[in-house]
Amino acid sequence: GSYQNILADKAGEKKNVGLITLNRPKALNALCDALILELADAVQSMDKDETLGAIVITGSEKAFAAGADIKEMLNQTYSANIRSGLLERWSDIGKCKKPIIAAVNGYALGGGCELAMMCDIIYAGDKAKFGQPEIIIGTIPGAGGTQRIARSCGKSKAMEMCLSGDQITAQDAEKMGLVSKVFPADQLVAEAVKLGERISRHSPLIVQLCKESVNVAFETTLQEGLRFERKTFYATFATEDRKEGMAAFTEKRKPNFKNN
Ligand code: HXC
Repeated sequence: GSYQNILADKAGEKKNVGLITLNRPKALNALCDALILELADAVQSMDKDETLGAIVITGSEKAFAAGADIKEMLNQTYSANIRSGLLERWSDIGKCKKPIIAAVNGYALGGGCELAMMCDIIYAGDKAKFGQPEIIIGTIPGAGGTQRIARSCGKSKAMEMCLSGDQITAQDAEKMGLVSKVFPADQLVAEAVKLGERISRHSPLIVQLCKESVNVAFETTLQEGLRFERKTFYATFATEDRKEGMAAFTEKRKPNFKNN
């Protein structure tokens, strides 16, 4: 579709990586309602597009996203939040079955940091800054900040970021495990697309099962998670792609996955 606040493209040599660029430069990609709707729509349609094996979400070199749109929230009320289900469409992004890679350059603050954390993998440019500054404007994170930092980086880091509102550098974000790799800013999107291409070589069906299994780690006990993983591992043996993958290895050739 044609969007006002984002760009949606296909990237990679085989055009098999969906590339979503947040594009509200005048507001540093502040996440207004319209942008969130478009983003959720683009993610949903890329999730359904069988030519795509992974999705990259990025912003500009100055800002991935500077958070929810403060000007839009200024006169919002408690009852209006309940009536409108503020941020409900947000969770649609988390329902995507395909891997989503966040390529973060510049500011990822508030909802911007939370959006990055909703993605499956975060790559950062060397000048990226992450933070949960909501406390500074009299509110708290509302799209997962208090929960996802605590789960992926522990209590002390989560408390420090959410209570101080301080920004952290890409290098510190990598050290604490929020980000998996840091690249020079101008190479970031290309590197994220390359990762998307490597993922896209695998069976989409098996990639989906693998993503689902890792996500269970954030929802349940170790025993239940291990049980889920084992059952899912067994289930891959019901697929043609598992047979093809192992046959290709044995025959020293490249696999030809059929998503089946
Ligand atoms: C609306 C924003 C915005 C935001 C920046 N802008 N962030 N507009 N909402 N979150 C606008 C500014 O008003 C300005 O437009 C233009 O973008 C450029 O911003 P400047 O402040 O002039 O740029 P700079 O001095 O470089 O500072 C960059 C910055 C600062 C450090 C990122 O803009 C900033 O602190 N932004 C707010 C960050 C924040 O508090 N985020 C959390 C929001 S709450 P005009 O036209 O005015 O000049 C949140 C809740 C999450 O995210 C809930 C779930 C989604």
